[in-house]
Amino acid sequence: MQFRLKFVIDSYFCYLNLFVMPLNLNTEYLKEVLSLETINAQQSVYANAKEELISGSGKGNDFTGWLNLPDKFEEKELNEINKAAKYLSEKQAIVVIGIGGSYLGTKAVIEALGFGELTKKAQNPEILYAGHHISEDYHYNLLDYVKGKDYACIVVSKSGTTTEPAMAFRLIKKQMQELFPNDIAERIFTVTDKESGALKEISDEESYTSFVIPDDVGGRYSVLSPVGLLPIAAAGFDIESLLKGAADMKTQLYAEDDIRKNPALMYAAIRNHFQEKNYTVELLSSFEPQMFYFMEWWKQLFGESDGKESKGLFPASAVYSTDLHSLGQFVQEGNPCIMETFLHVEESNHTLVVPNDTENTDKLNYLKGKRLQEINHIAEKATALAHKSRKMPVLQISIPKLDAYYLGQLIFFFEFACAIGAYAMDINPFNQPGVEAYKTKMFELLGKEGFVKKKI
Ligand code: PA5
Repeated sequence: MQFRLKFVIDSYFCYLNLFVMPLNLNTEYLKEVLSLETINAQQSVYANAKEELISGSGKGNDFTGWLNLPDKFEEKELNEINKAAKYLSEKQAIVVIGIGGSYLGTKAVIEALGFGELTKKAQNPEILYAGHHISEDYHYNLLDYVKGKDYACIVVSKSGTTTEPAMAFRLIKKQMQELFPNDIAERIFTVTDKESGALKEISDEESYTSFVIPDDVGGRYSVLSPVGLLPIAAAGFDIESLLKGAADMKTQLYAEDDIRKNPALMYAAIRNHFQEKNYTVELLSSFEPQMFYFMEWWKQLFGESDGKESKGLFPASAVYSTDLHSLGQFVQEGNPCIMETFLHVEESNHTLVVPNDTENTDKLNYLKGKRLQEINHIAEKATALAHKSRKMPVLQISIPKLDAYYLGQLIFFFEFACAIGAYAMDINPFNQPGVEAYKTKMFELLGKEGFVKKKI
């Protein structure tokens, strides 16, 4: 397996340059480093956290079904997803309706495997999103945009009652009833609970094709369930490879208890270590803009899993080198509260070389003949060194290339590390009680039935 986790740490107490591969860990280097000794001393904490997670004896253990998603699917289920995806893929556009865990994983994978910022323009069918906020202008423009298209929609909501997607679905359904009166039921797909919630009820009444989000899988851990698999397959990406990558990573992470050899345990321990050293932010940075939504997915994963009981690192993200010209100043010289993780992609899928220019008016000939990838990697190294020079803890997680297989590895790796880190902090990674606070206030203010207005 080629997934590699590379740490380059420079803290007030230590310097570490350690290349960790799942099966090839430089333990010599670990021994030389003070903070790594501290981390090694946590071996039993993280091995226990892993045992709790895998055995299902930890907090929130009724929500650990995501562990089985990579190898859960039988051919029949995948065939059903692929059959629906084929129908969807023949449409001009697909509107994916959902919020939080019900859309971020989908968008993360589609953008990463597509063209990032260019995805919308390049794809056929075009994948559009709705119900991930309540903006009137956005939804007006979306409805206007798809009006002239042969489109279908996928509605994703585990609870089936979340306000934002429910509202968007009501609007889209109304338009679809007008545009496609004869085959509207064929064009609407739902992914929801197997028996409860308004979406399930509507789905049954209207005979939509419906897929199930397993009871024991929470939203932010659901990308490898039909929540993500259906729209990702409909967008034309290889869900079998995505699952295979996740399954291979699972095998790897399950097999190894040694914190020095298990990258998920190590990553969790390093994050928690710096949290204990009063760092408050983890910045996930990538020099590949198509990872923007992957990092949004990561932010939700860690934000909702760790951010409770006044604990957790605030998960932030940056796309470089773009953000080096904005956030870069803060990262280099601002409040030293940040630890940074670089998400590195080793090999681009395409080749682009800086051309020669005999005039050289722009003085760029020193770069002639170099691939953009090489320059991008040098920019990444320079940034890591610059940030390291201010004693910022920097680590790097590396995948060989951006494809479905390695993305599957990365997804499972982060999910696993996130749950382990939370268990080590004695937190339930699978609930999100804080999310209810805004909902309760909003329902009071909107006068939802069953909610008594209070003075706020
Ligand atoms: O991770 C989570 O559980 C949340 O982000 C949910 O996915 C999000 O709130 C949407 O919920 P639902 O799928 O019930 O509409």
